[in-house]
Amino acid sequence: MTGMRRFPDKTVVVTGGGAGIGLGIARRFLGEGARVAVLDIDAGDARTALEKEYGSRLLAVDGDCTDQETICAFHQRTVDIYGPVDILINNVGQSGRERSAPFHESDEAVWRFVLEVSLLSAMRMSRLVAPMMRERGGRIVNMSSDAAFAGDAGLVDYASAKMGVVGFTRALARELAPHSVTVNAVAPGAIRTRAHDSVPAEVIERIIGNTPAGFVGEPDDVAATVAFLASEEARFITGQTLLIDGGRWMI
Ligand SMILES: NC(=O)c1ccc[n+]([C@@H]2O[C@H](COP(=O)([O-])OP(=O)(O)OC[C@H]3O[C@@H](n4cnc5c(N)ncnc54)[C@H](O)[C@@H]3O)[C@@H](O)[C@H]2O)c1
Repeated sequence: MTGMRRFPDKTVVVTGGGAGIGLGIARRFLGEGARVAVLDIDAGDARTALEKEYGSRLLAVDGDCTDQETICAFHQRTVDIYGPVDILINNVGQSGRERSAPFHESDEAVWRFVLEVSLLSAMRMSRLVAPMMRERGGRIVNMSSDAAFAGDAGLVDYASAKMGVVGFTRALARELAPHSVTVNAVAPGAIRTRAHDSVPAEVIERIIGNTPAGFVGEPDDVAATVAFLASEEARFITGQTLLIDGGRWMI
């Protein structure tokens, strides 16, 4: 941990914060003084990892981020307990890699699943927090992927959803900038998480071979960038997508 405390008294929401990158982001904000509400299909690991240390500054709720009723109830509960959301991290997303196929054989049900969880969930959650952020200012950070830029074969639906996140970020940033709300995205490359562990070793080797830095990142590499974008120091940065991928894709 850095020793910085940039978020005392801030209310932060992290979707998919039960494991992997989202858990790293939740830990980072808690470590810097924030109250953090996590929504995850299985928030148990977040409770185990963080509740003892951070107590009432953590609200870890089990629920599906693609379900409208669930996110409305979660948002209301967060506001009731912690007050309006200052910082929204739309982290949840999935590639559906286990069910992926060459595009000509791909299944539309899988496209819809990937778009729901990786793009529409971010749009819905942002729509819930936007009215209060328009009054009070705020920060939104969305999760893209360098797979959108590199266009990984076999992941057409995922690349489409994650490039959709880039467009969503830009348009919403333009709408909300006059209200002191910044909207940015991060696009990680290979980061060591559970999702990453299920990727075949030869695919990881190929990715590392195409990564100038020559290694796989850790959740905290993403969390550190997200926290910067959510901080006061980043007030003049909006509509951007920052790649965190050891140089695999350079803009
Ligand atoms: N790990 C990587 O290499 C990598 C690279 C680029 C982008 N990303 C993106 O980062 C984000 C996090 O990925 P990760 O690797 O940490 O994944 P992960 O599988 O390790 O963790 C994802 C978390 O989201 C939760 N989750 C999944 N679907 C959910 C749903 N519908 N509702 C609520 N919770 C749900 C899971 O229970 C889990 O706790 C995703 O958007 C992913 O696309 C990851």
